[in-house]
Amino acid sequence: MSGQPGESSAAGQARAVERYYQFHSRIYDLTRWTFLFGRGTILRQLAGLAAPQRILEVGCGTGRNFPDLKKWFPRAHLTGVDLSEQMLAIAAQKVQGGNITLLRQAYAEPVHGRGEAFDLVLFSYALSMFNPGWEQAVEAAWEDLAEGGLIAIVDFSHTPFQWFRRWMGANHVRMEGHLWPRARQKFVPVIDERVRAYGGVWSYGIFIGRKHS
Ligand SMILES: C[S@@+](CC[C@H](N)C(=O)[O-])C[C@H]1O[C@@H](n2cnc3c(N)ncnc32)[C@H](O)[C@@H]1O
Repeated sequence: MSGQPGESSAAGQARAVERYYQFHSRIYDLTRWTFLFGRGTILRQLAGLAAPQRILEVGCGTGRNFPDLKKWFPRAHLTGVDLSEQMLAIAAQKVQGGNITLLRQAYAEPVHGRGEAFDLVLFSYALSMFNPGWEQAVEAAWEDLAEGGLIAIVDFSHTPFQWFRRWMGANHVRMEGHLWPRARQKFVPVIDERVRAYGGVWSYGIFIGRKHS
């Protein structure tokens, strides 16, 4: 569901999302704290569970999570992947001199290549925008993770209101609770919770799971 007629392929989704962030990148950090809940929580939870050395954030956007990742995991190497040039340009300003690699691409294949696999793959309000492509992204994350590594997903889950689902669809977000069953099936759940936002207008989810072959 992209909200853009004729944009139903993964390449079409990528183009539509890229266009969307040409404007939204300018107001992203100012506005998103009012509704992208749970990002601080999931990073705190991760810090209590593991000390990853190699971290991948898929759909890292403006790098909003980078300072917290650096705070909790100061020795880790961070890799951020995103398809939006404008979002990555803002992320780059936040990480000057840091132990970090930024890649501009749509995430549908593993990115670790011949390098070491990651200990943590984070999707923070990203997967719900991969429509189509979220299943491939979960598969790619599995491939990108070392055995015993963690996947962490914080994202929109579902809403009882059709008007809200439609509104979110027009903003490229699919809100059908579709991410969690697949995450549970693929990874061994460590934390798996849904939380109501704004009195239940929508719920978001936090999932942390471990890769075991
Ligand atoms: C809502 S923002 C989240 C940014 C950041 N993770 C955060 O928590 O603030 C979603 C990001 O995912 C990126 N994105 C969407 N589809 C993507 C895809 N197929 N591959 C890589 N990045 C994608 C967008 O460009 C955008 O920067």
